[in-house]
Amino acid sequence: MQELSFMKQTTLALMNGQQCAAHDPHRPVWHLAPAVGLLNDPNGFIQHNGVYHLFYQWNPLACDHKHKCWGHWQSTDLVHWQHQPVALLPGADYDKHGCYSGSAVEENGNIILVYSGNVKYPDGSRTTYQCLARKNECDEYDKIGPVLPLPVGYSGHVRDPKVWRYQDNWYMVLGARDLQDQGKVLLLRSTDLYKWQMLGEIAGSQLNGMGDFGYMWECPDLFTLGDTEVLICCPQGLEAQNERYLNTYQAGYLSGKLDYQAVHFTHGEFHELDAGFEFYAPQTTQIADGRRLLIGWMGVPDQDEQYHPTIRYGWIHTMTCPRELTLCDGKLYQQPVRELQQLRGEQTVWQGVANDAPPLDITSAELILVPQGLFNVCFGDAMQLTWDGGLLSLIRNSLCSNQEEHRYWRGTVQHLQIMIDRSSVEIFINHGEAVMSSRYFPTSQPLLHMKGKAKLALQYWPLMSCLE
Ligand code: FRU
Repeated sequence: MQELSFMKQTTLALMNGQQCAAHDPHRPVWHLAPAVGLLNDPNGFIQHNGVYHLFYQWNPLACDHKHKCWGHWQSTDLVHWQHQPVALLPGADYDKHGCYSGSAVEENGNIILVYSGNVKYPDGSRTTYQCLARKNECDEYDKIGPVLPLPVGYSGHVRDPKVWRYQDNWYMVLGARDLQDQGKVLLLRSTDLYKWQMLGEIAGSQLNGMGDFGYMWECPDLFTLGDTEVLICCPQGLEAQNERYLNTYQAGYLSGKLDYQAVHFTHGEFHELDAGFEFYAPQTTQIADGRRLLIGWMGVPDQDEQYHPTIRYGWIHTMTCPRELTLCDGKLYQQPVRELQQLRGEQTVWQGVANDAPPLDITSAELILVPQGLFNVCFGDAMQLTWDGGLLSLIRNSLCSNQEEHRYWRGTVQHLQIMIDRSSVEIFINHGEAVMSSRYFPTSQPLLHMKGKAKLALQYWPLMSCLE
């Protein structure tokens, strides 16, 4: 499809679909969701001249993964976001089957987008080009074109450039599937963003002692926290284990030390970033005050997507809330950004035994729970959280089979911060030591009920909508 045609079809989809999507009772009131169609990865997350920009993988034409362009929001407070002109539309020879994921950098005071142009052939094969686009005076993005063809030795699955500046150079990580079906992360260097030199593989399956670790790694993101390098990556093809790797694809991180000269990343084990049902393809950025922020996609590719009830209203998926990252004893902590506190309405404070706790309206709400003892939390009729003293289990009925499905976190629960928005729950355990992010679809206005003998200290706030 040509770009102009894509734009016309997008306008039509919005004219016909936006009202219906807006009336969905499951539609979030303070999370980012597509006006119509399908949203997936966050892209190009950056703060520029004091303004936050978040681009995203968007198929405005249907609730499937066929036609990807880059939608664009901006915000001055990380809470209220405004739509911006669509930033990238597929249609050029080098991106005709999708403007896939990528990142944004500031160069000479301007925003440059770096993204993967996806091209498919009739025989089912594909290739990719890493491409640039530059912001113009109308806040639209002009394509510059490809700066890197498919590297030798890799399949057509090489994508998701994340670019950063280190000392006097630009660096890029790319997710890749090599010709032996091993997932890898590639490191490249450039002085000007236009000419890229391949440095080599810095992590992946069958590398640095990882053993078999998936056939494809998507959406890498490399950054420094303190004196540690963290590499976020999304391996595909890991086998489910008892309590981990239970989603269709994983999102996690490796931390260690990157030697830019030797092109060697010495890292520890892979840790999942989230223990919930829906979390994938997160992207981070560092903002002016030094914080490293992360936003993820609250969805997983190929995981029961066609059963989401929001499809009836013509839209699917949301982002997670923006989170602040910190490292503590080598472990990555995530906490909701403090800016979200401005959404808090009147506070309720309660103390007592879980069994006696009052039911709470959790349509859009934040809770802080400090439990002593075993407890169980019901989120309306659609999800439950249970702690048995060693294992925290999140339980819901599968959207596809209606059978119970579980996700787990093993540890000692001391503090829970729970952020709820109509059809999503984000549970921050022990101030961000772990997170469980999930969609859930209550059939009526949900109440939170607590059970168990645990002594509880509870704080509750309804959260205001950002839609008005
Ligand atoms: C991850 C992903 C990326 C790709 C994009 C396409 O969800 O598959 O690898 O660039 O989505 O929308």
